[in-house]
Amino acid sequence: MCGIIGYIGHRNVVNVILSGLTNLEYRGYDSAGLALRDGSDIKVYKTLGKLVNLKNELEARKSELYNVTCGIGHIRWATHGSPSLVNAHPHSCTCGKLVVVHNGIIENYKELREELIKKGCEFKSQTDTEVIAHLVANEYSKAKNLEMAIQNSVAKLQGAYAICVMHKDVPDLIIGARKHAPMLIGVGDGENFIASDTPAIIEYTKKTIYLDDNEIAIVTKDSVKIKDINGEEIDKKIEILPWEPIALSKLGYKHFMLKEIYEQPDVIRNVLNGKIYDIDEPIILNEVKLDKETIRNLKKIEIIACGTSLHVGLVAKYVLEDFTGISVEVEASSEYIYRKTTTDSSTLVIGVSQSGETADTITAIKQAKAKNAHVLIVTNRPDSNMARLADSLIPVNAGIEVSVAATKSYIAQLVSFYLLGIYMAEVKGTLDSDYLKNLKHEIIQLPTKVEEILSCTNSIQTCAKKFSSFKNFIFIARGVNLATAYEGALKLKEVSYINATGYAAGELKHGPIAMLDETMPVLSILMSGGITYEKVLSNSEEAKARNAKLIALTSSNDEKLDSLFDVVLRVPQVREILSPIIACVPCQLLAYYIAEFLGKDVDQPRNLAKSVTVE
Ligand code: AGP
Repeated sequence: MCGIIGYIGHRNVVNVILSGLTNLEYRGYDSAGLALRDGSDIKVYKTLGKLVNLKNELEARKSELYNVTCGIGHIRWATHGSPSLVNAHPHSCTCGKLVVVHNGIIENYKELREELIKKGCEFKSQTDTEVIAHLVANEYSKAKNLEMAIQNSVAKLQGAYAICVMHKDVPDLIIGARKHAPMLIGVGDGENFIASDTPAIIEYTKKTIYLDDNEIAIVTKDSVKIKDINGEEIDKKIEILPWEPIALSKLGYKHFMLKEIYEQPDVIRNVLNGKIYDIDEPIILNEVKLDKETIRNLKKIEIIACGTSLHVGLVAKYVLEDFTGISVEVEASSEYIYRKTTTDSSTLVIGVSQSGETADTITAIKQAKAKNAHVLIVTNRPDSNMARLADSLIPVNAGIEVSVAATKSYIAQLVSFYLLGIYMAEVKGTLDSDYLKNLKHEIIQLPTKVEEILSCTNSIQTCAKKFSSFKNFIFIARGVNLATAYEGALKLKEVSYINATGYAAGELKHGPIAMLDETMPVLSILMSGGITYEKVLSNSEEAKARNAKLIALTSSNDEKLDSLFDVVLRVPQVREILSPIIACVPCQLLAYYIAEFLGKDVDQPRNLAKSVTVE
């Protein structure tokens, strides 16, 4: 979704802002803009579409810029008002002296807009953001102090905001403020940064101050002051970012998505590191702050998440119920919030989110906390808002994921749930020791098995070419891989825009079978050695009888599959409960190669955002 960078310092301001926005591009956006202090002027530039348009615009107009000392930039993902130049940020007040960029949604913007129009403000856009520009300018005309004007203004805003403000009459100062939307300060030497996310600043500094809700940052090139909304200075800790700038490079891969798929063996190793060190010893999971007695007495686990993270939750239901015997409910965060849930202090609520910023999940988590549940967050962003709400936090350490389509964060979250399941089973004594040893042994082998898949992708690439012209797909599976079918279909939809749906294989004959003919390929996930294989095979035969083209994703060497299916994609054998780790990889690759073959914008699919910070 939207992204912000503000910069003040000795470097080329335009370059820093453009590179910061480039590193936020993966979040998804439809227009971009920046405001630059040039001598005593403030100059605003905006373009529609990709950042390259803004870069070209600035290149063409660089002779207009003389002495740029600071600036604020933004990429916008439209919420209020269409993607248009007039709605792109930065927004200005009526006289044009004050500029603001904003992430989030101002819920009371209509009331504020009416009040401000009555006071003579002239609105140009349909955005909620523009009220902030007029509001702060209005307060500034009374207080004659930008800091106080912002304090007075944010007190009137309802909703979520991370804002950066500059004023023509207040040279070389950028002020940031936040509530329910992320914002951080990058601390440099003779330079400082304000940003909505770490990739925007990582090239320049690792020293970071995270703003909390209702805090205001007053930033010059040599100083950073953080204050509360009453103007009281707050002593904040400088944290060192764990990311390396190299994480933002494709390292020779054509797309970040492919690079991130190939990183998965090491990502799994990272998750296991320090947690399983000997199959005879219990799992170490110090991140779980529940005492052992509470784990033994847990009545229920609720998992709440969205999209790909929700699919992790669906796998986790099978794993946790199988390993611990505790009943697990899984629900989309955006639905959980409308239910009178039976959550209480004997419930463990687990929020799953790669970004840690998903608004629906944050709302659901707050709801669960209000009911006294212990909240455990599984996320790739231990620096996120969601992580700050956690009673227990499992950081999955997949490294920064740039591609909008989640891949390595999915596998890292999955592996974390296997470890959580084993940890809880060891506390509760629900699995026998031989089973546990074998299970841990197989988990340690997983990275090598994923490497095996990645070392030979010819059959997946050929399959992708063969099926790239189809307009619809069905993915079927049973049991623990039902979520793999959902996730495989979601990946294909996201990056190739092909209509793909995941179904429980047993449900095929209860409706979807009506759609089957030679134009509707069916991908069956058939993991051998478990209880679902034969049944999914029968369901595939039913599809074949309706002339559907069939793809098998299987760990079986049974030759009869080669005559039944049009394409057979073989993966290494693992026990069924672990097979989602293996089965998800060819699904990711198939989606990637189809999208790449069709020439789609793989890393930044249309309309999608990496962090969905609005409900
Ligand atoms: C993943 O490929 C998707 N882009 C999307 O479904 C994503 O999983 C969803 O928006 C949830 O995001 P989160 O994991 O950051 O909470």
